[in-house]
Amino acid sequence: MSRTVLVTGGAGFIGSHLVERLLERGDEVYVVDDLSTGRLENLKAVRSHPSLRLIVDSIMNWPMMHDVVGKVDAVYHLAAAVGVKKIMEEPVATITTNVRGTEIVLDCCHRHGAALFLASTSEIYGKAGGRLHEEHDRIMGSTSRRRWAYACTKVLDEFLGLAYHEEHGLPVTIGRFFNTVGPRQRGRWGMVVPRFVGQALAGEPITVYGTGEQSRSFLHVDDAVRAVMGLVDGIEDSAGEVFNIGCEAEITIRALAEQVKARTGSPSQVELVPYEKAYGEGFEDMERRQPDAAKLRAFLDWHPTKGLDEIIDEVAAHLQGEGEAAPAGALPG
Ligand SMILES: NC(=O)c1ccc[n+]([C@@H]2O[C@H](COP(=O)([O-])OP(=O)(O)OC[C@H]3O[C@@H](n4cnc5c(N)ncnc54)[C@H](O)[C@@H]3O)[C@@H](O)[C@H]2O)c1
Repeated sequence: MSRTVLVTGGAGFIGSHLVERLLERGDEVYVVDDLSTGRLENLKAVRSHPSLRLIVDSIMNWPMMHDVVGKVDAVYHLAAAVGVKKIMEEPVATITTNVRGTEIVLDCCHRHGAALFLASTSEIYGKAGGRLHEEHDRIMGSTSRRRWAYACTKVLDEFLGLAYHEEHGLPVTIGRFFNTVGPRQRGRWGMVVPRFVGQALAGEPITVYGTGEQSRSFLHVDDAVRAVMGLVDGIEDSAGEVFNIGCEAEITIRALAEQVKARTGSPSQVELVPYEKAYGEGFEDMERRQPDAAKLRAFLDWHPTKGLDEIIDEVAAHLQGEGEAAPAGALPG
């Protein structure tokens, strides 16, 4: 079943992997990306593919989006201002891109009857603890704590997407990515795995923010992409639903640092750095962020296929190939 689709943010980390898989199965793929955090190099394996149409522009360009969405059957909306560091540094751009940008995408899909996958995030659970299922209550920090702005923009995106589905019958499926990792993710926006691997390869201290006792769950990008494609292929049944997309296995950040050090054979020391030093005063973080992925498993018969060792190996190979060890300007932590 080959189709014409649009991937917003298709030059980004998850987007570029998705674009490759869609092209592989015969889809014609439009990409709209403003390259703010994405890179053309991410698409280098498919740059000359005859079915790729790359548009370097912003999703805020309403007439352009109107035109492109008019040509496609489905939209994978991944473009967003992403990453805690970016959100701390550029709050206005983050809020605008994530709210107005999604509003434009939804309007265009509605006008042209295109099905939509909306990328959301585990951040929307806020400070809620425990194993997080889709109906779990959210606990957000105060508006004076800037980090929560990112989560709130994605919450609004979800509400708006569900409203378009309920009020206008638009087929919209929402996926909440938990930490998704793998080759092409960049350390400089605060993403922990490429940052640790980069530091380990460079023999620099592997810097862990806070106590390191906070735990996270990491999913390989290939497994995330498989989930996204399955949800959109089954959109008659997945529309109007929200799915966690994540790996249920947990690891503390300190243990992750040790595993990266061991796996890469690095002489680096693991160092603890207070959050305030990394992100400024008043930063808040969650102790745990573990998905309950039962809904996705039931819908798709989906299971993660790649573990942390494989993830570390692939990220290390990618950074070495790009000469990207020790990302320039990376914050400690
Ligand atoms: N990687 C994760 O662990 C994770 C976790 C939760 C949610 N997500 C979500 O998944 C999606 C993809 O994230 P990613 O990790 O691949 O990050 P990324 O930064 O690599 O991808 C985002 C892409 O969007 C593009 N973009 C940003 N603003 C744009 C605009 N105005 N117009 C056009 N393009 C624009 C960027 O250039 C980039 O290519 C995002 O919506 C993000 O919120 C990712």
